Amino acid sequence: MNPDTLWYKNAIFYEVHLRSFCDSNGDGKGDLPGLISKLDYLQELGVDCIWLLPMFPSPLKDDGYDIADYYNIHPDYGTVDDFRTLVAEAHARGIRVIADLVLNHTSDQHPWFVQARQSRDNPYRDYYVWSDTDQKYRDARIIFLDTEPSNWTYDAATGQYYWHRFYASQPDLNYDNPAVAEEMINVLRFWMDMGIDGFRADAVPYLFEREGTNCENLPETHAYLKRVRRVLDEEYPGAILLGEANQWPWDLRPYFGGDENNPAVPGDEFHMAFHFPVMPRIFKALKLEDVSDILEIMARTPDIPFNCQWCVFLRNHDELTLEMVTEEDRQLMWQLYAPDPRMRLNLGIRRRLAPLLDNDRRKIEVANSILFTLPGAPIIYYGDEIGMGDNIWLFDRNGVRTPMQWTAGPGAGFSQADPADFWVPLIDDPTYGYQKVNVAAQMADPQSLWHTIRQMVAVRKANPVLGWGNCQFLPAGSRAVLALLRQGQEAAVLALHNLSGTAQTAVLPLESFAGAQPVDLLGRADPLPPVGTEPYRVNLRPYDYLWLKL
Ligand code: GLC
Repeated sequence: MNPDTLWYKNAIFYEVHLRSFCDSNGDGKGDLPGLISKLDYLQELGVDCIWLLPMFPSPLKDDGYDIADYYNIHPDYGTVDDFRTLVAEAHARGIRVIADLVLNHTSDQHPWFVQARQSRDNPYRDYYVWSDTDQKYRDARIIFLDTEPSNWTYDAATGQYYWHRFYASQPDLNYDNPAVAEEMINVLRFWMDMGIDGFRADAVPYLFEREGTNCENLPETHAYLKRVRRVLDEEYPGAILLGEANQWPWDLRPYFGGDENNPAVPGDEFHMAFHFPVMPRIFKALKLEDVSDILEIMARTPDIPFNCQWCVFLRNHDELTLEMVTEEDRQLMWQLYAPDPRMRLNLGIRRRLAPLLDNDRRKIEVANSILFTLPGAPIIYYGDEIGMGDNIWLFDRNGVRTPMQWTAGPGAGFSQADPADFWVPLIDDPTYGYQKVNVAAQMADPQSLWHTIRQMVAVRKANPVLGWGNCQFLPAGSRAVLALLRQGQEAAVLALHNLSGTAQTAVLPLESFAGAQPVDLLGRADPLPPVGTEPYRVNLRPYDYLWLKL
């Protein structure tokens, strides 16, 4: 790969759920050779980096986030050699690969935990967090609210409770034990030595526990993550850590490290972190036709070091989380986006992008346009580039993890197996079924959503100011219009979004660009006059969006 160590600043990420992407051996489960066979597709879409969900041996109680062996590949997915081939084949196409690094917990089937629960004096006992009572750390919230009554589970054989922030089948590792801290760095080295380009680090706020705190974002956690970063920088320069910390922007800021008062000081913790709070606000803004909440959260988003980047997303493999909104807004979002109680899960909504947005092409496009122009690197969740649907009746979050719809043919081109044997059923309804929504049909149709997304990817990459530039939100004379000015030393792009179902006229203070002739990067606008000294007026159709180079 090219040696650019800041490659992630303007990269397009693509999240792959291996089990649902492509099945090469007809067992109804996606696998590594299947993904390899689809790399040309990802190259054609234009993505720069694949994020692979956990691919390790696991009893799959949490779809692989419950790891039973950190040093191997789940047999359903193939072998370590297949993984090496994947990395080589991806790199040959200019695509990087990051893997999930699940530091916080293992599966209860992991040999460490199997040992640990054998007796209180087992050498592995201290790999996990034990207590005589379930009354410790009472200020720590429960995350999987729908299923877990407590963060403690009683182990009858040894008469103590063990600590877990997620399912009871996912005991938390004890980072106060130096052996654990060291071992997880060995895990990182093992996968880095296969040539990958970094990790998406799972559930990082919860590594340490301390009485009297909510056990999130503790100084000890940051110290450990900085240590992990040093290993990467020293041994694998150019590799990244993308942190999953579902937190407020001001609590996220420390995850980048560096100096909070000076973005010129390089970050020394995560290269990237997901911007969780902006996501639900995009959906809220679209329903209320009012961009205020987006502006408010972005105004409260601190500057980050120059060598860091936000990662923005509309949807992912989890429920659309409503953890980072007020209780009032959560109720509102549930009302607006999850009218059927079955659509709700924990503090979120188990639906995909297209159904959330009424399968309205205009809303799906404008939401993506925001994604591609906000500060940060965008992530596309597999299937959202074709507007796949969901199945809220499946277990847990599986309804947003259904097989990728490649063709209208048998098994949707996902697998040769009998569809009845697929690990979860295909989407097969009149609106979102694979007969109608599939990659082949959309690639063949120049007007399809796929081509629109592909164009956004290409235009974004051709205009690095969208990755590197600073961002200013301009007043646009309408509450329904989001106007972002992305500006760097050599270029400026103004992105306009009409989040309402009625036409709007944006009135913009562009005096400092007087004389400029805006260039319509996506080829969507009516002819535009040059910018003058008067406020600049742009007409926007319902749910319209424009990227104007100034
Ligand atoms: C992260 C993952 C989620 C998983 C949890 C526990 O939030 O995104 O899918 O269940 O961590 O590992």
